[in-house]
Amino acid sequence: MICPVCQTENPKGARFCMNCGSSLPLICGNCGNENPNEARFCIYCGKPLVGQSVGLPQTGSIQKNAEITADDDANVEVLDRNDHSSVRDLTSYMPGELTNKLQRARETQTMKGDRRVVTILFCDVKSSTLLAGQLDPEEWAEIMNRVFERLIAPVYKYEGTVARLMGDAILAFFGAPIAHEDDPQRAVLAGLEIVTNLHQLGPEIQKQYGIDINIRVGINTGLVVVGDIGSDLRMEYTAMGDAVNLAARMEQTAKPGTVQISEEVYRLVAPLFDFEDLGGIEVRGKAQPVHVYRVIQPKSIQARWRGIEGLKAPMVGREEEIQNLMMAMVEVRLGKGQIICMSGEAGIGKSRLIDEARKEWLSGAPTLKRRSPTWMQTRSLSFSTNRPYGMFQLLIREICGVSDTETAEKIREKIRHECSAINIPDGNCQRISKTIEVFLGVDSSENAQSLEGESFKRELFDAMLILCRHWASQSPLVMVFDDLHWADPASVGLLIHLFQLVEDSQILFLCAFRPERDSLVWQISTTAERDYPHRYQKMVIRALSDGDSETLVKRLLENYELPNKLRKRILEKTEGNPFFVEEVIRSLIQSELLERQIIGGDGNQQVVWNVK
Ligand SMILES: Nc1ncnc2c1ncn2[C@@H]1O[C@H](COP(=O)(O)OP(=O)(O)OP(=O)(O)O)[C@@H](O)[C@H]1O
Ligand SMILES: [Mg+2]
Repeated sequence: MICPVCQTENPKGARFCMNCGSSLPLICGNCGNENPNEARFCIYCGKPLVGQSVGLPQTGSIQKNAEITADDDANVEVLDRNDHSSVRDLTSYMPGELTNKLQRARETQTMKGDRRVVTILFCDVKSSTLLAGQLDPEEWAEIMNRVFERLIAPVYKYEGTVARLMGDAILAFFGAPIAHEDDPQRAVLAGLEIVTNLHQLGPEIQKQYGIDINIRVGINTGLVVVGDIGSDLRMEYTAMGDAVNLAARMEQTAKPGTVQISEEVYRLVAPLFDFEDLGGIEVRGKAQPVHVYRVIQPKSIQARWRGIEGLKAPMVGREEEIQNLMMAMVEVRLGKGQIICMSGEAGIGKSRLIDEARKEWLSGAPTLKRRSPTWMQTRSLSFSTNRPYGMFQLLIREICGVSDTETAEKIREKIRHECSAINIPDGNCQRISKTIEVFLGVDSSENAQSLEGESFKRELFDAMLILCRHWASQSPLVMVFDDLHWADPASVGLLIHLFQLVEDSQILFLCAFRPERDSLVWQISTTAERDYPHRYQKMVIRALSDGDSETLVKRLLENYELPNKLRKRILEKTEGNPFFVEEVIRSLIQSELLERQIIGGDGNQQVVWNVK
């Protein structure tokens, strides 16, 4: 804060100059306008000035609704963290685990200057400047505190970082300093939760203060240059104009109460959500309209984003592994339950192998003696590693056919229906139903039980044992637990408890995971090996051979033979990891170095790939 009289630089928040005692101007933290000292609201933008710190906005800071144009790319400046907001201490909103992770990142990394692709989320409380004028500043500050709480919680839940708090808006990053492979998905999930949270808060605020609040969320993925993590664990960053600007544009053009994303984000999360295609919008600095989408909801079964759109290679290699899986099923049919622990690095092909086994197992025509196995599959999610029983909740929802949009009553009905089929005395069925209702959070009784209590745990473990035994008595049962390296501790305990079924039921536990050192998954494999060695099989999925990788490249390109040099280069770069093979080919296609063409006329068409 520079004193207009003596030019002395004063500390942030000073109301009077420390050198000459002159009163310092009151600058709006939202728009930068200079206000009379008695002003409670900015005379230019209407933003409350009470409770904000005073000081000149630093050069380079983002003004809300003031776009950074693509031209600013050349004019890279670290944005300041002296944001003005009624919410001060971000750390108070942070889950402990995230605080620790950020502290660690802060201590161990100097990120300054790191170019990172991050997913950028902007959200803004709709018409708040107008609304603010109808209220006392204290009331408005109280509302905004409640609003911010609901905006920030989802960002932290999915391990995003708040980069900026503006008057009534936030800017968050997903991908720095903690990077996840699914950051775009996390950003969209956070955006949807922000909208839901505000939707729930809206009526409370309306009732109490008689005003409507709403929110718009915009998301884009792109390059920013990140700085250090501040002492308040806020992420410093340098805007690379375009990417941040486009995220802001997504937000500004979104309908209130919705999440709008750019084409870039859409490409990364397309199989995971339902969307409305909104067509193109004009963006300053871009010659062509930018394609945008409104996110409606997560798809009920969230597929993994893998493969190249429009190109899927038939399975390559893995004959021995498939043979082993087939043999395990023979054992299961003989009443010898099995546990298979399948490990392998990310992208090596565990899930694909399971998928192929499923096709093989289910394809044989059932006979009276040989019924097709029942297939039940679930997985742990990277952003739910602390949610108790997360993967079992997904499993039960799937088995009962429960979707997110159903009422609690409908869900209870479905649970009761599923449980009524079990061949045990009626009272026990009701007890199991009740336990599952609590488990899925739709219990109608007044005193909601905690999922973490010991007595509930006993009920749940018993109920799951009875349910799985029942399912396995109907036909051989395959239970797949994928991505177990992210399993939460409660799920690990329950899965280990269920392993006892291998002694007397036709059940196959197929557990897939990455060999991550710090993961709880090792408890699963070591217990299985120690307690059920006669039922246990370890399967390590290794890199594809050079020959198989070569076949994979060829099959992805619809049997087209690439020039030798390029083929060799791809094999070298991808080291037998099929996911990497797909990614390299995808990036060649995206950068137009590889181009698909169809040549030949009617009836004699042929695919060729042009290599540039
Ligand atoms: N043997 C194979 N033949 C052809 N394609 C394969 C093969 N193995 C894997 N793929 C393809 O490679 C991609 C990555 O495989 P997959 O998703 O199964 O890996 P993963 O081991 O499950 O990885 P993650 O640990 O990340 O879940 C998928 O698109 C899959 O279809
Ligand atoms: Mg997988």
